[in-house]
Amino acid sequence: MTSQHPADPTAPAATGAGRRADGWWRDAVIYQVYPRSFADADGDGMGDLEGVRGRLPYLRELGVDAVWLSPYYASPQADAGYDVSDYRVIDPMFGDLADAERLIADAHGLGLRVIADLVPNHCSDQHTWFRQALREGPGSPLRSRFHFRPGQGADGELPPNDWESVFGGPAWTRTGNPDGTPGEWYLHLFAPEQPDFNWDSRAVADEFRSVLRFWLDLGIDGFRIDVAHGLVKAPGLPDTGTHDQLRLLGNDVLPFFDQDGVHEIYRDWRRILDEYGTDPATRRIAVAEAWTPTVQRTANYLRPDELHQAFNFQYLGTAWDAGKLRAVVDATLDAMRPVGAPATWVLSNHDVVRHLTRLGDGADREQDLRRARAATLLMLALPGSAYVYQGEELGLPEVLDLPDRVRQDPAFTRAKGTGAEGQEGMRDGCRVPMPWSGTEAPYGFGPVAEGPSWLPQPAEWAKLSVEAQTGDRDSTLELYRSAIAARRAHPALGAGDAVEWLDDLPTGVLGFRRSAADGAFACTANTADQAVRIAAPGRLLLASAPVTVLDGELLLPADTTVWWAV
Ligand code: NOJ
Repeated sequence: MTSQHPADPTAPAATGAGRRADGWWRDAVIYQVYPRSFADADGDGMGDLEGVRGRLPYLRELGVDAVWLSPYYASPQADAGYDVSDYRVIDPMFGDLADAERLIADAHGLGLRVIADLVPNHCSDQHTWFRQALREGPGSPLRSRFHFRPGQGADGELPPNDWESVFGGPAWTRTGNPDGTPGEWYLHLFAPEQPDFNWDSRAVADEFRSVLRFWLDLGIDGFRIDVAHGLVKAPGLPDTGTHDQLRLLGNDVLPFFDQDGVHEIYRDWRRILDEYGTDPATRRIAVAEAWTPTVQRTANYLRPDELHQAFNFQYLGTAWDAGKLRAVVDATLDAMRPVGAPATWVLSNHDVVRHLTRLGDGADREQDLRRARAATLLMLALPGSAYVYQGEELGLPEVLDLPDRVRQDPAFTRAKGTGAEGQEGMRDGCRVPMPWSGTEAPYGFGPVAEGPSWLPQPAEWAKLSVEAQTGDRDSTLELYRSAIAARRAHPALGAGDAVEWLDDLPTGVLGFRRSAADGAFACTANTADQAVRIAAPGRLLLASAPVTVLDGELLLPADTTVWWAV
């Protein structure tokens, strides 16, 4: 008998590592840890690697397959660690390399894989290469590793082209020459403290090959590639001819994003990953953070000789609406099938408003939570791999009222004074530290009961802590635990490349079936604001809100998803 989940006798049962013959990442639930905000072992108010290590048993119990850690490298933290000054060193605020080795070893001991965040588009302005390039002035060979250009205008006082930074303002900053005169400009698609590498430079390509190997040798199971779509720029750095380029990000082809030349880099990296083994149970993988105009263009990053997964931002950006969700699921699966890559599904991460708040209407927290739970159950039922961002399993909302003085997102600082400094596009509100236990902040995030966390946690979070929710069958945490366990246990859940839509459902209800040789599954999600009566497509497995099935029928409440064994 063939099954979608062939048993691997060597795999740790509780995590399912290695249970799929054709690749562990094809159905993995990958949990994003934001190290600053997960757990603080040394009590300085900032999370650290020892904190993460101490909470690995929690992640095993949650049932996830892998942990993706946002950057922990040496960094001045101008963009919360996405400004790396040394790719082979752990920032002292997070610990040291010995901590990283212990973390990887413990994770592996628990059957959890560890994915590092690689930041190859840019580094920190404190990186030794960039500092030397500045020191040596125009003509320095180090300048060819970045994009230095003379300015336009009579005295070079205008930026070299019209590119805008993702964080607002021009994507260029002018430098001063060693003799104090105004000098060349350098490119930074993000903050000025994040100079873009020039990927035409052989030294840059060699350095990243070496960095990949450094972490693979340390035991890392894969990489999340930051700004994977940005490394190659159009030759000659042509003007875009438009302003408001932010609006076009991910919607249009821009001369600095999603250029075809970028794929050569990933073919090269794939060869390196494959050097570490091609056994599907232990393979090292890479996942692209690639903002592209269409899922078809995202699939280009996943051709068989490139990367293994890419975030599905089209799905993340879809409203809670049956028709729109169906369209994006179809488009995703259709795009992934030809390249043979698993679809991925994601609702929240450290850059976007938490899905409870984003999908809700903000009028009633209970109502928003109800919709968030329904959205999660839908996501976890879809074929492929799913990403969970720390705290969503607790039903954490976005924190919308952080005082300006505590905010650290460079997007906020850049927007200040421009009139655009509202909450939109600001990212501190989803980065507030996790509540673990107790009744007062920092809720077990750090060891000192009265110690502050780097961002203040709301008073209401006492009732959302891990401790408060554990064992409460109605809690969001227990819903996640049950869903991930059911997903692992049911033969028709997890990996796959298709769904069979159920068409005879009322407007606003999304329903699909998935079949395996030894069992079928159905999912029904009511995205409408009214309860609707439907026929039960099978035996109730799990529901995001209470439902009662009577004589083969049920009243499916608004904002509710139900899983069925068929
Ligand atoms: C994407 C990361 O997720 C985000 O946090 C960061 O600011 C940018 N890339 C720049 O590295």
